[in-house]
Amino acid sequence: MKLGMNTNSVTKVTVAKTLLPAGRELLEGEFEVVEGGSGSNRQRLLELIPNSAALVADPTVPVDGEVLDAAGSVLRIVANFAVGYDNIDLDACASRGVIVTNTPDVLTDATAELAAGLTFAAARRIPEFEGELRSGGWTGWEPDGFRGVELTGCTIGVLGMGRIGRRYAEIMSGVSGRTIFWSRSERPEVESELGAEQVGLAELLSRADVLSIHAAATLENRGMIGPEQIAAMKSGAILVNTARGSLVDATAVADALASGQLAAAGLDVFENEPEVPQALLDAPGAVLTPHIGSATFRARDEMARVTARNVVEVLSGREPVTPVP
Ligand code: GLV
Repeated sequence: MKLGMNTNSVTKVTVAKTLLPAGRELLEGEFEVVEGGSGSNRQRLLELIPNSAALVADPTVPVDGEVLDAAGSVLRIVANFAVGYDNIDLDACASRGVIVTNTPDVLTDATAELAAGLTFAAARRIPEFEGELRSGGWTGWEPDGFRGVELTGCTIGVLGMGRIGRRYAEIMSGVSGRTIFWSRSERPEVESELGAEQVGLAELLSRADVLSIHAAATLENRGMIGPEQIAAMKSGAILVNTARGSLVDATAVADALASGQLAAAGLDVFENEPEVPQALLDAPGAVLTPHIGSATFRARDEMARVTARNVVEVLSGREPVTPVP
């Protein structure tokens, strides 16, 4: 008998939007896989989900009590296709005995590489200067033309020393003079292994030439980089965010770019995606990407596989591979 079969029905797995073939092929044949499709919305999810044993979600899919109740009591797992899980109401899942999983590790390199890319692109304002070239605004080499910030020897500040923050620090160590970091817990091993210095938030802000955000989007961390924190940063610093938009006050960033308090910013995430505040679109020195931290071929395929494996394990009565902490 197939894994997902019982005597009279096939176990149903609902994918709120889409699951890449690398993951879907691990589910098909074992389960009835129902996909909402990439343009799907909440209403469609509520129609599809009744009697599902598993829900595959992603950062664009809020999963709350209403969604869980629509699934009914057969629901065993919400498998998020992402490392972040701020789209999921964990308490609502716990109170219904529903397991939540995410996709850590497999996207660490991809996301840290994007953060590094944004750091370099922002420091040298690469997209903006390329735009000048393309629009015919480049009239020739000039001593004072198109200057940017040099990163060699700079102090890199890492806010949140999880896997991605740590990998970013490693990559940037090729140019940085010093790495300082803030983490909620004591991380002596990072100090000894990376030669990085753990500091308090105020010291991180006042010393970093580049501040890259890698913290989790918990309620507590919401707006942790706002006007006061940006004012406490070094004048002419660079801010990078590949974590979640809710961690940063976008208006404060746009104002600081306009005033020159921030020399540049590299932002991959926004609070109400896919909306991007006009002030950021207009801000000088803003390098903006459409939430592509994990969007490499390798990482996204691996994320799909990990997501599917979690579903298979839980629906087989085993432990999930990567439950959320
Ligand atoms: C993407 O944003 C993720 O959390 O994996």
